[in-house]
Amino acid sequence: MSGLFITMEGTDGAGKTTQLSLLKDYLNKKGFNVVLVREPGGTNIGEKIRSIILDIENKEMNCMTEALLYASSRAQLVNQVIVPELKNGSVVICDRFVDSSIVYQGIARNIGMDIVKKINNIATGGLIPDITFFLDLPPNKAIERKKEQKELDRLESEKDYFYKKVYEGYKILIDKNSERIKVIDALQTIDEIHKNIINHLEKIFF
Ligand code: TYD
Repeated sequence: MSGLFITMEGTDGAGKTTQLSLLKDYLNKKGFNVVLVREPGGTNIGEKIRSIILDIENKEMNCMTEALLYASSRAQLVNQVIVPELKNGSVVICDRFVDSSIVYQGIARNIGMDIVKKINNIATGGLIPDITFFLDLPPNKAIERKKEQKELDRLESEKDYFYKKVYEGYKILIDKNSERIKVIDALQTIDEIHKNIINHLEKIFF
């Protein structure tokens, strides 16, 4: 495939949204055709699945149901958008991808990394990002930021220990994928974080 597949990961509140739009603008200015999508969601079907997953009313949701719903949304996104765009030579930036499922469902929800990997291999056909940025925000800071938010979705309303498990999960995953996943200190200013991301991209791809 001729395009470039970039994903952005992090715990809730790490500042991904701001960085994603800065990155998109930067790449657009460089002349690339850039497609920015989010997970869960990014397609009509995926957005419907997203609303089921994040609905605060769905407290009884089984963790395997949750893992399969994330994978379903992902299967649709990969086949409808990501793969066709990469074949067209676009830069695809995805707000979260399989790494989120490995960490949130596999590790924090205790389903197991291997099972989650298998489900997602089926969903994605084995697609792996060319590069992944992890915005590293220590859990105590994430919890502080969460307290400032007014409305929390089902995942955000999890207890504080869940945030810690997610963070530790990312650290395990990063250890195993240190070539692909670049760790960015999310306590820096918005501008510094953006420059760090660009530096990595320029070193490797441009
Ligand atoms: P979202 O509002 O997009 O959060 P954020 O801005 O932090 O990305 O909600 C996505 C939530 O779903 C978030 O809490 C992380 C979680 N998630 C998983 O548990 N597994 C997954 O595979 C993905 C993609 C997200």
